[in-house]
Amino acid sequence: MTFRARHLLGIEHLAPDEIRSVLDLADSYVDLNRRTMKQSDALAGMTQINMFFENSTRTQSSFELAGKRLGADVMNMSVAQSSVKKGETLIDTAMTLNAMQPDLLVVRHPSSGAVNLLASKVNCAVLNAGDGRHEHPTQALLDALTIRRAKGRIQRLTVAICGDIAHSRVARSNLILLGKMENRVRLIAPPTLMPPGVAEFGCELFDDMRKGLEGADVVMMLRLQKERMDGAFIPSEREYYHRYGLDAEKLAVARDDAIVMHPGPMNRGVEIDGTLADDINRSVIQHQVEMGVAVRMACMDLLARNLRAERGRAALGVMA
Ligand code: NCD
Repeated sequence: MTFRARHLLGIEHLAPDEIRSVLDLADSYVDLNRRTMKQSDALAGMTQINMFFENSTRTQSSFELAGKRLGADVMNMSVAQSSVKKGETLIDTAMTLNAMQPDLLVVRHPSSGAVNLLASKVNCAVLNAGDGRHEHPTQALLDALTIRRAKGRIQRLTVAICGDIAHSRVARSNLILLGKMENRVRLIAPPTLMPPGVAEFGCELFDDMRKGLEGADVVMMLRLQKERMDGAFIPSEREYYHRYGLDAEKLAVARDDAIVMHPGPMNRGVEIDGTLADDINRSVIQHQVEMGVAVRMACMDLLARNLRAERGRAALGVMA
């Protein structure tokens, strides 16, 4: 296993061999999670605090389950978005929790970069569960595991990421990961939802969905992130669905065995047709949720190993 990181802040900081280590270990946790006895002691004795400054269903619940299955004491601190003040408040909260000696801190925050800032202030391992439009590393890793299990590889694939790219940390983390693993990435969005400068990541850009989907192995749909929009980015949801909503007819130009993904929560009838989302022959959306628990177990296990090793070295240093 190769995993050098002290924190998991973004895919940006991971090398391909570290990504492979997470996926390999996560595969073994998928097997564990399918058993009746799902317990491991990888985090036994450790304390995990989940700090979510933004709403979340699957990410928070899967981090909680992942920690419990690994034997950690897990505490959920849910902070309503409205009560959050940036800067001092975030650091104050983090310092307060840090004083309680947690080993793993899982953080979601509406500001890009907030989790990196926090990681510099505490002495435990920090996992980014999504910061603003910046990164959502465990989502990209669970997507990679889902793709690798469905396609048998995570290289040399054509992956189309479609929808609200501009506001999406999921798109950004996936774009970086898929590029590092040598895949062809196509971004499909109306010009108003395509972030400027994104072509520098070495991807192809399309505003015509049918052209972008042609021959794709994987079609990843994104939610219209209205909470991050400060104005009108699309004429109407109806018009958006007509041009960019994924349905069986548009999917027909992709490869016959193309898989359909969505990180959730889905807006049925806005970015994806509900029947297609539920079609188990094409959609791997439920697999993504299952892989999410296993990937989060793998990430926390690897970070805990590094934390123990670091503390062991520090203790030896003190004794010497
Ligand atoms: C994503 C997120 O929060 O960035 N959801 C998730 O983690 N499953 C995507 C989204 O909210 O649309």
